[in-house]
Amino acid sequence: MSSEVRQITVPEFTAMKSSGRKITMATAYDYALAGLVDATGIEGILVGDSLSMVVQGHGTTLPVTLEEMVYHAEMVGRAVRHALVVVDMPFPSFHLGSHKAIESAGRILKETRCQAVKLEGGTEQAEVIAALVSAGIPVMAHCGLRPQSVHQLGGYRVQRDERQLLADAQAAEHAGAFSIVLECIPAKAAARITAAVKIPTIGIGAGLGCDGQILVLHDLLGLNTGYIPRHAKAYANLSKTIIDAVTQYRDDVRDGKFPGEEQTFS
Ligand code: KIV
Repeated sequence: MSSEVRQITVPEFTAMKSSGRKITMATAYDYALAGLVDATGIEGILVGDSLSMVVQGHGTTLPVTLEEMVYHAEMVGRAVRHALVVVDMPFPSFHLGSHKAIESAGRILKETRCQAVKLEGGTEQAEVIAALVSAGIPVMAHCGLRPQSVHQLGGYRVQRDERQLLADAQAAEHAGAFSIVLECIPAKAAARITAAVKIPTIGIGAGLGCDGQILVLHDLLGLNTGYIPRHAKAYANLSKTIIDAVTQYRDDVRDGKFPGEEQTFS
């Protein structure tokens, strides 16, 4: 990237739909990795509440707090120069009415350098989305599989009620959302929804017909030693690289090979 980097704005992000160029997003949760992800020139970075699982080690996205999201978003916001940065609103920071939602999202925008929030929901959150947008807070909606509703949905299942999915996407659009994540829905439904709305759809487990794609960074980098969801693709095997490196270091220390001459002061 050139040294004259300018951060993508919300209207520019939305306008990418009509340009026909696919939008790429990934999650990031700290300064070092957010800086590396941003250096690739991808268009969007999400400080996802998936950090509850991949960073904090919880079994769901429910435990992460607003305080913790702000803490991680600050780090990401300090690192990113180019991508649009979106921050997930954690459960239940937007379920207690529009006033509380504006207070929570307002904290995110005031205390981090991030530009937008994401919240799970379509039809049932339309009022909250509209209230946030009228307060000048850009909102990315999240329809289909909504991990914060895992208990109500009975697990992390593909969502197949196309009428409801379309109604959710359209409600989010009419409420003023600038983009919609579509998670784990059939590819044909995602393509039809993408054609039916004017704002970009960002798919995860939603096929090629979306306007863009997002992956959880730990899945993309192969940083998870455990479960990798079917919709994810590991483009590297960093867990092996890390284990190999630390094992080599351990062996060097045990064998008296580290520190060597180069790391030693006379
Ligand atoms: O929290 C997250 O990482 C997300 C993506 C899966 C879209 O919401």
